[in-house]
Amino acid sequence: MSDNSNISNTDSTKIDSIKNLEKPKMMDYHRHLLLCVGPRCTENEESQALFDTLGEKFKAAGIDNGALRVKRTRTHCFATCKSGPVMCVQPDGIWYYNVTEANLDRIIKEHLVDGQPVEDLIYHRSHHSGNQEPKNATS
Ligand code: FES
Repeated sequence: MSDNSNISNTDSTKIDSIKNLEKPKMMDYHRHLLLCVGPRCTENEESQALFDTLGEKFKAAGIDNGALRVKRTRTHCFATCKSGPVMCVQPDGIWYYNVTEANLDRIIKEHLVDGQPVEDLIYHRSHHSGNQEPKNATS
């Protein structure tokens, strides 16, 4: 009896089809910025306009390449649809609101370049961000 005795023919076929898929590739990035361009956190597509500036802003800040390289991605809803534009920075687990162009410039300089999150613009931190322990963690 083989190790796969509990796997049905259908499951086995799925596993084989996954094996045959080409694995996606991603370049190395220090951080990943995800900006919501969904319809509910801004009214006039301010988020998309902001997203369109990111390439030039990253280049000017020197984070389009090198050790601090940042990947940028549009998303369509974080289900926190208020006071946008909203965005998060991973793997730091930092979520920002009210990301106007001036506030984005602060986030780029203070957080993405200098490594200091902009506290007054944060509306959420994941439990895994910084040195925080999960609320139910025991030591
Ligand atoms: S539409 Fe932006 S968080 Fe929902």
